[in-house]
Formats: sequence, C-alpha cells, structure tokens
Amino acid sequence: MLSLKRKTPPAEQPAAAPPAPDQPQQAAPAAPAAAPPAGSITTSIRSQGATPVAAPTRDEQRAAEVNKQFQEAKGRLHRKLIERLNLANLEKDSPEHREQVRAVLKDLCEQEESLLDYRSIQRLVDEVHNEVFGLGPLEELLRDPAISEIMVNGPKQVYVERGGGLTLTNITFRDNDHLLQIIDRIVSRIGRRCDETSPLVDARLPDGSRVNAVIPPIALDGPSVSIRRFGKKRITIEDYLNFKSIVPEMVEFLAACVKAKLNILVVGGTGSGKTVLLNNLSGFIPASERVITIEDAAELALQQPHIVRLETRPPNIEGRGEITTRDLVKNSLRMRPERIIVGEVRGAEALDMLQAMNTGHEGSMTTLHANSPRDAIARLETLIMMAGIELPIKAMRAQIASAIDLIVQQARLQGGARKVVKITEVQGMEGDMITTQDLFAYEQQGVDGGGRAYGRFICAGLRPKNLERLASHGVALDPEMFQRRALLLDSEMSRA
Ligand SMILES: Nc1ncnc2c1ncn2[C@@H]1O[C@H](COP(=O)(O)OP(=O)(O)OP(=O)(O)O)[C@@H](O)[C@H]1O
Ligand SMILES: [Mg+2]
Repeated sequence: MLSLKRKTPPAEQPAAAPPAPDQPQQAAPAAPAAAPPAGSITTSIRSQGATPVAAPTRDEQRAAEVNKQFQEAKGRLHRKLIERLNLANLEKDSPEHREQVRAVLKDLCEQEESLLDYRSIQRLVDEVHNEVFGLGPLEELLRDPAISEIMVNGPKQVYVERGGGLTLTNITFRDNDHLLQIIDRIVSRIGRRCDETSPLVDARLPDGSRVNAVIPPIALDGPSVSIRRFGKKRITIEDYLNFKSIVPEMVEFLAACVKAKLNILVVGGTGSGKTVLLNNLSGFIPASERVITIEDAAELALQQPHIVRLETRPPNIEGRGEITTRDLVKNSLRMRPERIIVGEVRGAEALDMLQAMNTGHEGSMTTLHANSPRDAIARLETLIMMAGIELPIKAMRAQIASAIDLIVQQARLQGGARKVVKITEVQGMEGDMITTQDLFAYEQQGVDGGGRAYGRFICAGLRPKNLERLASHGVALDPEMFQRRALLLDSEMSRA
C-alpha cells in the first residue's frame, strides 16, 4: 500500500508512518520519553560528554520518531525477507540474485501496512539490500569518494575524515551485535575472524581499503572499526603536485633516485601518508624489474607487470600458522627479487630488510613510523635490537648507514594538508655517528585564519652524494637544480 504522506521529506530523514499494531517492535532501543532515541545526531554528540545540549525541539522529536519507525520497518522487512528466501541462498552474490532480492524487497514493501512514501521505500529497499549483500550502514559512507577515513566508536558513533577534517555523522548501527555482524562480514571475506579469543584484526575491503577492528573486552565502549579508504581514485604524483604536497624539483629527484636503485625509507607519523607516498615512489620502478611486496594487509597497488604480492598471516585459533613480515622478507630473498618493498617495518624484520638492501637488492623501499629522519635512524637501531642479535652499536650504525641511501619524510600539517617535509640523504659515518644532510625541506611559517598551516619548500643548496650514481644509471640530473632557493611559497595561496 503506497501513499505519498509527505511530498518533500528532509534529505536524511525518511518519512514513515507508525508501524501496524500487530508488527513486533524491534531494532531501535527504547528511549526515555523526553530524549531522542539513541543514534540520533543529538544523542551521539551528547554521548561524548561535551557541552550540554538543549532539550530537543518538536521538529527534532518528530525526526527522531520518524527515524525510529523507519528502523522498525527495516527490521521487519529484513526478517520477512529471510522468511521468504532460503537463508542459505540469501547471501549468494551475483547480479541476477541481487536483482531477485530487490524485487522481493519491493514486493514486501508494498505489503507493508505502514504508510511509506516512495522515497522511504527506495531507501528501505537500499538499506536492507546493503544489510544482505554489503556492509550495512557503512555502505553509504563507502560510496562517498570524498571520505578518506571512517572511524566507528561503538554502534552509535561514527566519525569520518573529509579533506583532512573530522566530522561526526548520523550513521548508527542497531546495537553491538549488528556492528559485530558487519565486522564479521569484512574479516571472514579474507579468511580471518574476530572474536573474544582474537579481538584485534586487520583486514581490507575488496577496493583495497584497510580495516582494523577491535572488539570487547579489549574495546571498552563497543566494537571499534577504523577504515583507511583507498577508493577507486588513488592519490597520484599529479595529485601531490596539485595539492602542493611536493614540488616538481623534488619529484624529479625522487624519481631519479628510485630509477637508480637507491634504498629509500619513507617516514612519518601515523596517518601522515607514508603508504600513499611509498606507492607513488614505487610507480617510478621500471616495468622490467621483478618486484616483491610484503604487507600486513595489502594496501599497495603497483602498476608494473612483474609483481609478486605477499601478505602476512596471524596465528590460527590454536596459536599456530603465523607468517610474519620477517618470514616473508627472508623467503622473498629466495624468489629472485630485484626489489623488495615492505609496507612497514615495525619489528625484527628491519634487520633482514637492511641485510637485503646491503646484499644485492638495492632499490628496496619501506616505511617506518618516525617523526624525523634522525628519529627514524634511532628507531631502526631499536628494531634491529629486537632481532635478538648482539651487534656493537657502531657495527649496527655502519649497517644502517650503508643500507639506507635516502629518507623521505611526509607529515600531516595543521588543517590536514600532507607535505613531503624532508628529503634527507644518508652520507655515511663519522666516528660512531651516522651523518645525514637535508637536500629539500618544507618550512612551516605559520597558520592562517582557517587553521591551515602555510609555508614554503626550500632546496638546501647541497650537492647530493649520489649524483654520480644517478648519472651511471642513466638518470643524470643537472647539479644546478640543487642551488639554494625557495621552491614554492604556499603562504599567499592559502591566505587568499
Ligand atoms: N599528499 C596527500 N594529500 C592529501 N591526502 C593524502 C596525501 N597523502 C596521503 N593522504 C591521505 O592520508 C591518509 C593516510 O594515508 P596513508 O595510509 O598513506 O598514511 P600512513 O602514514 O601510511 O598511515 P599509517 O601510519 O596508519 O599506516 C589517507 O587518507 C590518504 O588518502
Ligand atoms: Mg601506512
């Protein structure tokens, strides 16, 4: 039964009539009479314990009521769908099957005794469809290409990152179980599981987006999910130039270093863009070379034809079968690699990676969590110690100095912009110390009225030690390009 109750319902709030009295109530939890139901925007903001919020207006109460009824109708529809179709076949995913389910849903909607308008029916069908085939409430966010990160803090609070800034959404899950079901769907696709015995799990979505889930009892306020989006459109070097994350001179130099097989360490803080930069640097590897990539959850998307991608594996329920990054680095040496790319070093594999770089696998690259090139070297020393071999500090540093040629640091600045803030060359040893020189840098000069950092890129005026090596690999660079100067001021631009 269809009736156009409201001609122009507000964009996010569906219009739905009260459910028929014989329909079982479920889905939305009961809310106290004066408060909006859990999951409304108001409640989500309140639950952060921030500044007190005024009592809901009549409009807000009406919207909350409509939302509650919509959720109830959705629960009913989902149940009827399961009754109508064989459960075993329900999740079989093919275009024909999706169409068939959609048709059944539309049919069921028409039998709904509640008075749903056309838009609400469409939305109801979409949402139940998403529950059956997709990731439920997350689907809507995953379809939005402007979202770069999704953070679910329990069933009633979902934040997203757009253009570097965080915002709270009005997306909610029914309850913890609903959210757990969605987590299960994500991780089971790649043969992993997330339960009380393994409450931390890394996974990825079919589009390459990286997912981390932590569930109770470790996560205290309900299951937590963090999704790093790698949508259809990846950030390319052209984007880097457009976003002023880098300048053409730096790109030219980095491209030459990759082609000339320098060993490169990409460093930065969490979420600074290390993986994106590593992916872009890998894009300069000549197509003829055999590349092996090693990651925890495959995020890199190299375009070359000759790639072998390896992924680590956590232990199974009996604690067996774990394959670590270290195992894969060691194994990769027997796979005749020309380059080894490790998504991130964070443990003993650092030693194997350095040894590989020192023994004929030049041109290898990895990322490391560190806040400066100096910090990165100190961190590498710590990671090598984790490998459990007794190496005098001088020998360890000599190993690092001869393995790493270049350290590239990317940072997330105030306001969310990402910049390549340092390109640093490792020169060698002086006594016990590793010496380095910064060839290019980004100098932050201030923060504009909109809270965005501004500054300039500079070329330090130092001649790279590796210029001859670049030339011998056929990528000679003009020494003039390393003259000391400012390369690009973005201060005027961001103030405009
Ligand atoms: N140059 C850039 N301009 C704008 N956004 C960027 C840029 N580089 C990366 N990003 C965005 O920054 C976010 C983090 O990127 P990435 O996953 O590469 O970070 P990371 O340093 O590897 O993080 P983690 O430490 O969690 O592994 C992504 O959403 C990505 O799209
Ligand atoms: Mg990363």
